[in-house]
Amino acid sequence: MCLTAVLTLVYILFMRQRASTTHLTVLCSVPTPRIDSITVRGYRSRFHYYLCRRDSGEMEVYMRVLVTGGAGFIGSHTVETLLSQDHEVGILDNFSTGTPANLPPNEIPIFATDLRNYDSVAQAFRSFRPEAVIHLAAQVSVPESLRNPRLDAEVNLIAALNLIDYAVHSGVRRFIFASSAAVFGMTDPGELPLTLSTPTHPLSPYGRNKLLVEKFLRTESLSSSLESVILRYGNVYGPRQNPAGEGGVVAKFCQAAVLGEPLLIEGNGLQTRDFIYVEDIARANVLSLTAATGTYLAGSGQEHSILQLAQLFRELRANIRLSHTPARPHDIPRSLFAPDDLPVGWHPKVRLRQGLAKTLAYWEENVQPHDYSSCQVLHVGH
Ligand SMILES: NC(=O)c1ccc[n+]([C@@H]2O[C@H](COP(=O)([O-])OP(=O)(O)OC[C@H]3O[C@@H](n4cnc5c(N)ncnc54)[C@H](O)[C@@H]3O)[C@@H](O)[C@H]2O)c1
Repeated sequence: MCLTAVLTLVYILFMRQRASTTHLTVLCSVPTPRIDSITVRGYRSRFHYYLCRRDSGEMEVYMRVLVTGGAGFIGSHTVETLLSQDHEVGILDNFSTGTPANLPPNEIPIFATDLRNYDSVAQAFRSFRPEAVIHLAAQVSVPESLRNPRLDAEVNLIAALNLIDYAVHSGVRRFIFASSAAVFGMTDPGELPLTLSTPTHPLSPYGRNKLLVEKFLRTESLSSSLESVILRYGNVYGPRQNPAGEGGVVAKFCQAAVLGEPLLIEGNGLQTRDFIYVEDIARANVLSLTAATGTYLAGSGQEHSILQLAQLFRELRANIRLSHTPARPHDIPRSLFAPDDLPVGWHPKVRLRQGLAKTLAYWEENVQPHDYSSCQVLHVGH
C-alpha cells in the first residue's frame, strides 16, 4: 500500500517535468498491483537515476551517458554495452582515430566535434544533458606525445579539464575517466605487481597528463557534487583496435598475420604486459556508472611477455612467422596489475588465448589488408 503511494507520487513528480526524449521503464515484482514495462516518453526527470527492479529482484539504473571517443576502439565497445543495458547514449568524437564504421546502428545523438572546440562541447552538454560522462577521447599515442607535447597537453589535459568543468556546471552526476598504466612509468621490477600505492613516475607527456587529470578529477569530486571513477587500464586489445594506437601490439600482430607478414618482436621479446580484453574494459566502464567511486586498476592480473603472445598467435595459426627488430629505447620491461585494486564487483572474464582467437578471427573476417596499410607502426606496449 505504502509502496503504491510512493510510486504514484514519484510518477506525478516525473510527469511534472519538462519534455525531452528520455524514457523510463519500470519493472516491478512487488506484492502491490504490478506495473509492467511502462514506457513514458516526452518528459525530463529531475532525478538523475531511474531505478528499476527486474523480476529477478536485481536493481538496474538507466542513465543518459555521453561517451567521448565513442567512435574509437574502447569507446565503440562501451557504447555497445551501454545500449545493450538500455542506457541512453550520446557520442562526442572528432573521428581523428575513430571511424563512423564503429558507430552503432541505433539512432543516437552524435556530436561530431573536437574536444578543443569549447563552444560545440558546451552545446553538446546543453542539448544532450548527460547524467554521466565516460571520457575516452584522447590523443592516444605515447610517441606522438613525445614528439608533440603541446598537442597532447591541449587534448589530454586542457580539453579534459574543460570537459570536467562543463560536467560540474551542467549537473553531471558521475564522470568516468580512462587513465593508463603509463602513469606509473618505469617501475622497478621489484615493485611489481603495480598497485594503487606504487609511486607514479610517468615518462611521457601522455602519462603525465593522464596523471594530472586524475588529480584534478579527485580534487573536483571533493569540492563539488561530481562523483568520479578513474580506471587505469592495462594493455587493452580486441576487435576494432587501430594498430597505431596506444599499446596496439595485438592489433599489429593481427595486421601482420592478415598480410602474411612476420610478427615483429622488438628486442628479445621478454618485456611483459598485462593484457585485458576490450569487452571486459567496456563492462568495467559501464559498471563504473553505479559502482563505488575511486581509482582502480583495470587489468587481468596476468603477466605475458611479447614472445609468449607471439607464441599464442602461432598456436592459433601455424603458418605465422616471427621476426625480431631492435629494442625500443626506454621500453618498460615489465607491467602487471595487482588483482587487489580492481573496480569493485568487476572481474575480467576473457582469458588471453580466447581473446586473441576472437580478435584474429575478427581481422580475418572484417578487415581488408589495405584498411590499415597507411597506419604507422609506432610501438609495442605502453
Ligand atoms: N588501448 C589501450 O590499451 C589503452 C590503455 C590505457 C588507456 N587507454 C585510454 O583509453 C581511451 C580510448 O583509447 P582507444 O584505445 O579506444 O583509442 P582510440 O584512438 O580508438 O579512441 C580515441 C577516440 O577519441 C577520439 N578523439 C581523439 N582526439 C579527439 C579530440 N580532440 N576530440 C574529440 N575526439 C577525439 C578519436 O577519434 C577516437 O574515436 C583513451 O583515453 C586512451 O588514452 C587506452
